[in-house]
Amino acid sequence: MKLFLLFLLYAMALSVGLRRRGLPSIAGSVAPTPAERPTRVLIVGATGGTGRQLVEQALARGHVVTALARDPSALHVEHPRLTVLRGNVLDYPSVEAAVRGQDAVVSALGHKQFFRPTRTLSEGTRNVLRAMETHGVRRFVCETSLGIGASAGRMGLYYTFFVIPVILPFYFWDKTRQERLIAASNVDWVVVRPGALTDGAKRGGYRHGHIVGSLLWTVRISRADVADFMLNQMSDNAYLRTASGVCW
Ligand SMILES: NC(=O)c1ccc[n+]([C@@H]2O[C@H](COP(=O)([O-])OP(=O)(O)OC[C@H]3O[C@@H](n4cnc5c(N)ncnc54)[C@H](OP(=O)(O)O)[C@@H]3O)[C@@H](O)[C@H]2O)c1
Repeated sequence: MKLFLLFLLYAMALSVGLRRRGLPSIAGSVAPTPAERPTRVLIVGATGGTGRQLVEQALARGHVVTALARDPSALHVEHPRLTVLRGNVLDYPSVEAAVRGQDAVVSALGHKQFFRPTRTLSEGTRNVLRAMETHGVRRFVCETSLGIGASAGRMGLYYTFFVIPVILPFYFWDKTRQERLIAASNVDWVVVRPGALTDGAKRGGYRHGHIVGSLLWTVRISRADVADFMLNQMSDNAYLRTASGVCW
């Protein structure tokens, strides 16, 4: 009983920490939405679940796509408007080579080293931002997660009191660093915080906003719909320099 109460205290303290260290909900600058035009876009995390959706949907929208991949053979997509570059977000020269000449960078960076402190998300994002600022690349759309900053607790009870405190505390802590670096940058950024991800089909209908999700139930969304929302953020200014949640 005592252990259980201690665990509850820890989970609640972590949630408060994630809220305080992540970005607050900032009112979006509601500017007119420019029409989408073909854009040279770099996809970071292109071989991952969301990343593959980003690559396929960006190509379908007519963009000229560069994919950054540690192992280019893992992507399995060929297209005349697709260039796959070998690189690692922790290796600045490879990031800089990929960022140079782009109009936008869209990141679905993630990893599975959950059980030890890591800085891959924050240090990788630091390299991306540095390269963007160096080469004047303005738009950055980055996937983080519900459960951080103003969205703390919004993944539902199961995530707030089990998944995040037991499996993902280091990972989520690094996401707060990642978000803070983005917010401190000079680029035009949009942070996208999805609910639990599925490999389901693109529905097109999803909720988004500074406060979405549920304090009780696990909220979900497919990687296909997240990719759709993220690509919209390349030219939509409604969430510019803010973090938006997205879920079904
Ligand atoms: N799973 C969920 O329910 C959930 C919920 C909310 C938010 N999210 C977040 O959404 C994001 C995307 O998740 P996902 O499951 O779609 O992606 P994922 O399958 O985990 O893919 C992550 C991508 O990042 C790449 N990557 C990792 N380390 C790298 C490095 N050092 N240099 C270059 N690339 C690197 C991976 O490349 P390799 O193929 O080489 O490993 C992969 O392409 C993650 O940040 C995740 O935390 C997930």
